[in-house]
This record gives sequence, C-alpha cells and structure tokens, in this order.
Amino acid sequence: MTTPLPDRITIRRPDDWHLHLRDGAMLASVLPHSAKQFARAIVMPNLVPPVTTPEMAVAYRDRIKALLGGPSAGNTDFTPLMTCYLTDGTDPALLAQGHKDGIFTAAKLYPAHATTNSAHGVSDITKIDAVLDKMAEIGMPLLVHGEVTDPAVDIFDREAVFIERVLISTLKRHPNLKVVMEHITTEEAASFVLGGGANIAATVTPHHLVINRNSLFAGGLRPHAYCLPVAKREKHRLALRKAVASGSAKLFIGTDSAPHAREAKESGCGCAGIFCAPTALEVYATVFAEEGALEHFEAFASLNGAAFYGLPPNTGTVTLLRERWLVPESLPAADTTVVPFMAGQTLSWKLNGF
Ligand code: NCD
Ligand code: ZN
Repeated sequence: MTTPLPDRITIRRPDDWHLHLRDGAMLASVLPHSAKQFARAIVMPNLVPPVTTPEMAVAYRDRIKALLGGPSAGNTDFTPLMTCYLTDGTDPALLAQGHKDGIFTAAKLYPAHATTNSAHGVSDITKIDAVLDKMAEIGMPLLVHGEVTDPAVDIFDREAVFIERVLISTLKRHPNLKVVMEHITTEEAASFVLGGGANIAATVTPHHLVINRNSLFAGGLRPHAYCLPVAKREKHRLALRKAVASGSAKLFIGTDSAPHAREAKESGCGCAGIFCAPTALEVYATVFAEEGALEHFEAFASLNGAAFYGLPPNTGTVTLLRERWLVPESLPAADTTVVPFMAGQTLSWKLNGF
C-alpha cells in the first residue's frame, strides 16, 4: 500500500552545491531564482576569464552580494560560496591561502575543453598533483567535472571512462582527497560514489533525474534538454533515482543550473546547459515523492552537502505545497530570454511564498 502524499513538505533551508550564476546582466536576472530557493550555493568559476585567483573570487562575490536585496533579488541572506578554477598553473600555496581566508570553499577541476568555458582547464590531472596534495592536507574539496575529453571516446561514455582512466588513479595517489563528483549521470558513477570511501560524494541535478537521452530528440532536436554531461539511457536515469531514493548521505543537491540566452541554445551549434534554478526544488521534491522516498528528501536537500563540506546546516525552513503550477515558457534575462527546465509543463509542488 502506498502512503498518501502530504499536502505540504517543510524542510530546513536547502543549499545548491553546484550553480552557474554567470556575471553582469545575466547574473542580475538569474540570481533571484536561486536566492529564493537556496540559502547557500557553490558558485562555479567558469566565467570569461575564469576565476583563478582569490582577488577575482572576492570581486565576483562582491558583484553577487551587491545584487542581493536589490529590486527582485529575493533573500538578502543568500550566501555565495566561491570556487577556484584549476589550471595547469594553479599555485598550491595561493589556493591554500584563499581557502584559509574563507574565499575559496572548494576548487573546480574542468578537464580542458570538457564543457562551456573550459579552455583554460587542466590538460592532464597529474600536472596538478602538488595542488591535490595540498588540498588533501587542508581538507579542501575538489569538485570534478568527470568527463574525459578524448574525441575518440563516445560522448555517452565519457563519464564512465573518466572514472576508469582518471578518477581511480587520482584517488590512489591522493587517498585522503575530498572529491565531489559533480552532476553524475550514469549507473557507473552512482555505484562508484556509493561504494567509495567517506571522502567521495556526488551531486545530482534535477534534470538528470527526469530526462534521458530520448528527451534530446523528442519529436525533433531539443536544445533546452542539452547539457554536459549529456543525459544518458533510461537505465542510468533509473539508477540515479534509486541512488538518491536510497537515502545515501553521499548524495546531495547540485542543480548545475546553467543559463544561456535562448538564441545561444536555439542555434546551429547550441550551448550546453540547462537553466533549472527556477524549478529545482520542486522537481527534486517530485522525484522523491514519486520514488516514495520523501523521508530522505531533507537530508539530500539540506543536510548531506553541508556535512560533507564541514559546514553547519542552515537555520530556518522552506515549505513546498502540493499545488499545480505551470512553468513559464521563458523568463526575461539580461536583454533577452532564457528557457527554464520544464518550460510549459505543469509541476505538482510549489515553493510556498513565491
Ligand atoms: C555548464 C555551463 O554552461 O557553464 N554547462 C552545462 O551543460 N552543465 C558547464 C558545465 O558545468 O559543464
Ligand atoms: Zn556545471
């Protein structure tokens, strides 16, 4: 017998452990969507140019904070947690100093050319072994975009191959390094993380719990379903849902909300990235409800990530109401529009107060 769904779910205020906020006018437009849902977010450093120094991170953090409390920016107490974009030339001492000074919460590994704005990424992970040694020593988390960039590897296999070719050997060289495998998309990644040591965790996006690779081609080419790592076969989506529904403390929210102007997505060479911030919490709640795992929703949303990062959980709560609402077809952003995840579809949970 299935338990009837509650009419409302109240959880401690959640965090987003992987978010692209962009900069300038786009930042101003998308920030309120995250600030209303989340208390803190790990802010990705893949700006142009990337955020590689403590000075750049402080300046970016200031630009974000300056918008909070503005005309429509929602919570003024939203806290951006900054990350350092690792390159072949990252200086371990400077990175450690940035962490000590409370500027860099974590550091982000983009294999060079893996995704949007990653040209400056790391060309070979062994080149940053000294950086990883330092991070392991000080307990600074490494956030990994886990895909190989070898063009000979099929795009749907790049995550699984990254685990085999890069991650396993990296963890052998740095057994105490804290690693977040970000936006996992495969059965292989889920079982690797769940079977790994306490120093290995993962984020899961709302969209990878909902779409599979068929969604990219449903009735035609669907640019708004395209992100990296790309959605995989149905069996992988089901494995991800099973993993989060298991209540594992190693899994937590990381929306990977990655807005791009509509015209940059609907193009002959459309950008990778799904703008899921406006619907993230509602979609996660739907998944946990559908899986009959609502008892694990709060830990996934609000406790597991903070515990992994060694941060206190937030105070305060948010409430989701079991109420149907239509996700807008598009939202204004900068001087254009962005298309949110689930645009034009009806969701069955709604964040109270918005
Ligand atoms: C991200 C972006 O647009 O910045 N895109 C995406 O598809 N997720 C980059 C990334 O995290 O891969
Ligand atoms: Zn991302």
